[in-house]
Amino acid sequence: MNNDLYAVVGHPISHSKSPRIHSLFAQQTGQAVEYTAIQAPLEDFAGTVRDFFQRGGKGLNVTVPFKEQAWQLAEVRTDRAEKAGAVNTLYRDNQGRLTADNTDGCGLVRDLTSNHGIRLNGARVLVLGAGGAVRGVLGPILEQQPASVTIANRTVAKAQALAELFAPAASGVDINAVGFEQPDQPYDLIINGTSASLQGDLPPLSPTVIGSKTVIYDMMYSLQTTTFNQWALDNGAGRVFDGVGMLVEQAAESFRLWRGVRPETAPVTEQLRND
Ligand code: ATR
Repeated sequence: MNNDLYAVVGHPISHSKSPRIHSLFAQQTGQAVEYTAIQAPLEDFAGTVRDFFQRGGKGLNVTVPFKEQAWQLAEVRTDRAEKAGAVNTLYRDNQGRLTADNTDGCGLVRDLTSNHGIRLNGARVLVLGAGGAVRGVLGPILEQQPASVTIANRTVAKAQALAELFAPAASGVDINAVGFEQPDQPYDLIINGTSASLQGDLPPLSPTVIGSKTVIYDMMYSLQTTTFNQWALDNGAGRVFDGVGMLVEQAAESFRLWRGVRPETAPVTEQLRND
């Protein structure tokens, strides 16, 4: 019997860890899955998706820069995908409709709460950035009922727009938007969702946002300590995490949606760190 075909689509795509993660999941669960990486031309993401499903493909992960286009292309969206405005998982539902979900936010929340034992409920949370990555995770963060979520961004208007968009879903959570220079009190949790470190940059934050109990989570993943986490450690942060756990958790949630089986994530995260 042939394996069921899955893939991640992006541009560029050669750096993607998703084929490795999903092949480890398939091995672990004994599922007959083949998972490849596809680089879609920038001008024809829709054609790439169509061809893949016409060839009998079962499901796609979508990464930069196509997550918003995938949202638009979908015929059906889950509630969390609808709000996120961008999706990372596509499949056909039992009526053959192209269905979209976003598993990034639940991946982040699961990594924070289940893997690292961090309590979001009642926490004062500072989120850095207001792009697609942050928009994708705000809904699931708010569902955990933190005391407050402060969105800080270089372009404050974009943070304000996100705060307004998510305010109706915030039910009791104090959600607000500021520039980077404004926060100066320690937060319980600081999540870096900017792409600043891709340019070797740091958001210009006051170190006073870091207290002795502040937890730092950089959504970026790198083999070395990320630029942001190094800054946080240099300024007294006790616990810093990078996004490798989120990467594996969002993949596990996609795998569960497609296959009905949830793989164990801890051995896969460990394997990635040792690869
Ligand atoms: P992504 O999909 O990774 O979120 P994006 O939508 O382009 O990508 O958003 C990038 C985020 O990182 C934005 O919040 C951006 O700030 P602006 O909205 O002001 O552009 C932030 N960012 C990128 N480079 C940055 C830098 N050098 N310093 C601070 N913030 C930066």
